[in-house]
Amino acid sequence: VTAVTRRDLLLATAAGTAAVALKTAHGQAADNGAGEPLLLSGEVPIELRINGRARAVILEPRVSLLDALRERLDLTGTKKGCNQGGCGACTVLLDGRRVLSCLTLAVAVQDAEITTIEGLAKGESLHPMQEAFVEHDAFQCGYCTSGQIMSAVAVVREGHADSDAEIREWMSGNLCRCGAYNGIVAAIRDAAPRMMAQARTGETTP
Ligand code: FES
Ligand code: FES
Repeated sequence: VTAVTRRDLLLATAAGTAAVALKTAHGQAADNGAGEPLLLSGEVPIELRINGRARAVILEPRVSLLDALRERLDLTGTKKGCNQGGCGACTVLLDGRRVLSCLTLAVAVQDAEITTIEGLAKGESLHPMQEAFVEHDAFQCGYCTSGQIMSAVAVVREGHADSDAEIREWMSGNLCRCGAYNGIVAAIRDAAPRMMAQARTGETTP
């Protein structure tokens, strides 16, 4: 008979807890052996519609959309800057409208179509705004760039890209620590007519 020490028991318990945490940390619908989702205390199963795909995930109701995207669904293109609504790095589109995903609860947006930077390109073809950012060197470190591009797409769709001053005003919620603002404004000015042309020919824009 093998004696089970208190240390063995604690290690086994810790390993088991870690295994459960690992399974659920990545949004996998782990089951309890009876085919039902394994829920830890306070977690709920939800479904999000992201970039045209339904994604099931289990999380606590307090989890932000930003953390759900990055930590549970491996969609790390959306960046966490301040995590308190001050920088715009986490901008995504909800039904085409821009929101700060760090201030949005994932459970509250189950009815919306969520578009992230990963959903802008069509296969190998970049979105006109992505192309324009590349052409105008509108980034340096790139950390703010996905939020800038998502906001920029919305600014054009909102009809707020008629002048440099207007673009600067309506992009003022997106900060760039590298100071790439001149390139960003030039990119938006350039991409706006391309987006309009796409809309006229029936190509969809997010
Ligand atoms: S990370 Fe959301 S606004 Fe800064
Ligand atoms: S490119 Fe570095 S923060 Fe904007």
